Amino acid sequence: MVDNNLSPASITSNLGTHFVGQRVFYYPSLTSTMEVARREAQLGAVEGTVVIADEQTAGRGRIKRVWLSPKGSIALSIILYPSVVYLPSLIMLASLAVVHSIEAVTGLRSQIKWPNDVLVNDRKVCGILIESSVRGSIVDYAVIGIGLNVSLRLSDFPEISPTATSLSDELGRDVSRLSVIRRLLVEVERLYLALQAGGSIYEEWRDSLVTLGRRVRVKSGKTMYEGIAESVARDGSLLLRHSNGNLSKIVAGEVTLRD
Ligand code: BTN
Repeated sequence: MVDNNLSPASITSNLGTHFVGQRVFYYPSLTSTMEVARREAQLGAVEGTVVIADEQTAGRGRIKRVWLSPKGSIALSIILYPSVVYLPSLIMLASLAVVHSIEAVTGLRSQIKWPNDVLVNDRKVCGILIESSVRGSIVDYAVIGIGLNVSLRLSDFPEISPTATSLSDELGRDVSRLSVIRRLLVEVERLYLALQAGGSIYEEWRDSLVTLGRRVRVKSGKTMYEGIAESVARDGSLLLRHSNGNLSKIVAGEVTLRD
């Protein structure tokens, strides 16, 4: 069994970041790290504070879905206080940080399904949820929530096993959650600082999307779109070309690849 001690000290010690992951709240079991992170942000937690749980009992996914996060997965939330102009980039930042960390720790190549599912061999290994409180042009806080299937056997979870995978299932061996978490925190800070220094992560995010050029169906609210995922805009929205030639700009939705 690889090292799975997620104590704050094991995460922060010699982490090599300036602020992301320097303060960690760890819980063996929690409803949702998003809840605690939001509360800590409202209380003024320092930027980069991380809330992490060994397991969540009421994990939240996008579009009000339930997120299953049993022991063996990573469930963490990171508190940031970005300027409003960087908010759309947080989705890109988080998914790229996950892709980089998976590759650095395991050597596995992963891809992003718009807007921010991370896939390995076409199966979902990670989901990302961004929540923020914004008043006009003032961001009170933003929370990046990351759920990553690290060392769990998907055959134990038939409800998601047809479309999901884990790093250990892909590799056929256990993977250290601690190594993935530490790398993830380093990557989040590196990309966040690069963004604030005027760098762009849009191009790399766009080029990591499996979605582009594919025939897709997109459920956005009550509307269902179908067409070719032509491109993504700098604000992260999907540009979908319909068979009649029209173009739709979709801000949020759930994509199914059709080809
Ligand atoms: C999705 O793909 O629908 C997003 C899933 C996000 C799950 C993570 S796990 C850590 C954090 N806490 C939650 O309750 N949700 C996010």
